[in-house]
Amino acid sequence: MAFDIEMIKKVYAKMPAHVEKARELVGRPLTLTEKILYTHLWEGSPSQVFERGKDYVDFAPDRVACQDATAQMALLQFMHAGKDKVAVPTTVHCDHLIQAKVGASTDLQVAQNQSSEVFNFLSSVSNKYGIGFWKPGAGIIHQIVLENYAFPGGLMIGTDSHTVNAGGLGMLAIGVGGADAVDVMSGMAWELKFPKLIGVKLTGKLNGWTAPKDVILKVADILTVKGGTGAIVEYFGEGATSMSCTGKGTICNMGAEIGATTSTFGYDDSMRRYLAATGRQDVVDAADKVAEHLTADADVYANPEKYFDQLIEINLSELEPHINGPFTPDRGTPVSKMKQEAQANGWPLKVEWGLIGSCTNSSYEDMSRAASIVEQAVAQGITPKAEFGINPGSEQIRYTIERDGIIETFEKMGTKVFTNACGPCIGQWDREGADKQEKNTIVHSFNRNFSKRADGNPNTHAFVTSPEMVAALAIAGDLSFNPITDTLINDEGQEVKLLPPTGDELPTKGFDVEDPGYQAPAADGSNVVVEVNPASNRLQLLEPFTPWDGKNITGAKLLIKAFGKCTTDHISMAGPWLRFRGHLDNISDNMLIGAENAFNHETNKVKNQLTGEYGAVPAVQRAYKAAGIPTIVVGDQNYGEGSSREHAAMEPRHLGVKAVLVKSFARIHETNLKKQGMLALTFANEADYDKIQEDDIINFLDLTEFAPGKQLSLEFVHADGSKDVIKANHTYNASQIEWFKAGSALNLIAAGK
Ligand code: F3S
Repeated sequence: MAFDIEMIKKVYAKMPAHVEKARELVGRPLTLTEKILYTHLWEGSPSQVFERGKDYVDFAPDRVACQDATAQMALLQFMHAGKDKVAVPTTVHCDHLIQAKVGASTDLQVAQNQSSEVFNFLSSVSNKYGIGFWKPGAGIIHQIVLENYAFPGGLMIGTDSHTVNAGGLGMLAIGVGGADAVDVMSGMAWELKFPKLIGVKLTGKLNGWTAPKDVILKVADILTVKGGTGAIVEYFGEGATSMSCTGKGTICNMGAEIGATTSTFGYDDSMRRYLAATGRQDVVDAADKVAEHLTADADVYANPEKYFDQLIEINLSELEPHINGPFTPDRGTPVSKMKQEAQANGWPLKVEWGLIGSCTNSSYEDMSRAASIVEQAVAQGITPKAEFGINPGSEQIRYTIERDGIIETFEKMGTKVFTNACGPCIGQWDREGADKQEKNTIVHSFNRNFSKRADGNPNTHAFVTSPEMVAALAIAGDLSFNPITDTLINDEGQEVKLLPPTGDELPTKGFDVEDPGYQAPAADGSNVVVEVNPASNRLQLLEPFTPWDGKNITGAKLLIKAFGKCTTDHISMAGPWLRFRGHLDNISDNMLIGAENAFNHETNKVKNQLTGEYGAVPAVQRAYKAAGIPTIVVGDQNYGEGSSREHAAMEPRHLGVKAVLVKSFARIHETNLKKQGMLALTFANEADYDKIQEDDIINFLDLTEFAPGKQLSLEFVHADGSKDVIKANHTYNASQIEWFKAGSALNLIAAGK
């Protein structure tokens, strides 16, 4: 599992010259983000200035990380690309396929029985192609990356939207689709639109009940789920340096919830402490030699308004704990306002469950601060009113907190300790009674709270908050409880108060672990055999998608006009479907089943224009495919927000959808559609969305002239014979148009182009 110090030294060796050259070209001091990006140009030394939010640039990432759900398709694609070994250090992490139910050891055994075929596949492909493999139970990808691989000034990509977590160690870490990971694993450049920059100046200092989580909950409230789109967020100021490295990780982690490309912090003492505590003093020694390049130039943070496209300032000394939700992470409510908000909106006040953990908040500091609240409750004779569950971020965290008595503290409150894995955060939670779909409230320290995400129940109101607040709210069993001002009644009827949390940033006795759960790859993997059973319903080798025939698409039907929020969860639902992540045909049966049909406002019920009957979206689409009829999908704002799941792009491609036309896209999903050879289009005039009718037939008028920066025209023929010609914008550059023509980006790689 050894991190590659030689690779890190190579990055640092080129950094000073690249930064100096970039500074000269740009003609002004540089932000940290710019320093890292200009150090990682595919072309080598910078030779031109890139325009933010406009230019597509080729980069050379240092690392790739994949989680088990997305790795299946990424590795199936990588195998298809015909290479011997991955070109850059890569790891695979088994964390998504483990359901939380009874507790760690039973749940892990069940997962191993249920998914052994997939785990064995991932293990053998990793072994063969030089990939580090983290076994089920080893931990959550982003926690393991932070503990082992992230380094200041690095650039990495990962097939999970919360890859951004590694920004806590001063990296630029970006969530991508599997197709992008395959490019980099195959030794190709990775393309990104040069991002805009948002600066967040943190003044003051966290205190009392306020935690790093509250910073990002506040930022999400300000920027909303779309506010960071196309931008990298750079945090700085005294409030940033006074915060722990893992706290910075939490903030960067939830940058995904504002749609940001990624977030980062400048190199500081908190990072030195964390690197040393996780056995990487040599990274500290190497980083210290280039420390001036691992943060912005002095004038940037002194006069930030001159350097960032947008600037936000938050005074941590005045920041209140926040509780965001329900159903969206950007609906922020300060704890003092929760009572009135919940009553006004009819949110259930009774808290049923408190969950701590996930990749967002499972550090030693998080666990010890939450445990300090539990300890007080136990000492004061309070029986908690809600159930409580934790999922440690890694075996190293679990082992260390067990050694230090923190797990024992949680267990005094009857807490269930789930496997070191994603569990409830990704719908892998067999919650008793969830099938009754009762309206209820849960609080968690995760990052996402979209409808049905945790337990599949659309009436579960999930609220996101810090681990210490989760502990307090679960103990009180009351969403409106404000631990700063309110008291609780203990089992003896006495009034008691919870004091602010305390905890250790890092374990005073150091981290410890017996078996971290790592498998190193074979030095020579040429004899390792990877087997995929053709009869498997979990794994399926890929067939190339057919190239474009060079003609306009005509006679297409409208499959669905999606209304409102349509995230990748709506397009390719998680939960039980995770087991088909490696089998494209089987998982396609979940395509768009969560999207709301704009014509009847129901989910998974669309008109089959061939029969006039209504049916499930995948079934209707399969009928069109069987009849050889192309289709298009229409969507609303920020279509495809949420995750990097390329299945959300591959499924429609596999089932014969040709184009997705929306008001706006989430970045990763738009790129994924392009990679799979789909047309990802936006309305030139958003109001045209209203012109689209259920029985429309669609003809592309000028696809044969598809070119960068040129609008496309689509004719919508309505049932009454009238027509609307709608202009669509796109963001394809010349090479992305080649992907479309070839049928997919992978088809081009396999052809050696
Ligand atoms: Fe896993 Fe949830 Fe993080 S699914 S990777 S714990 S966002």
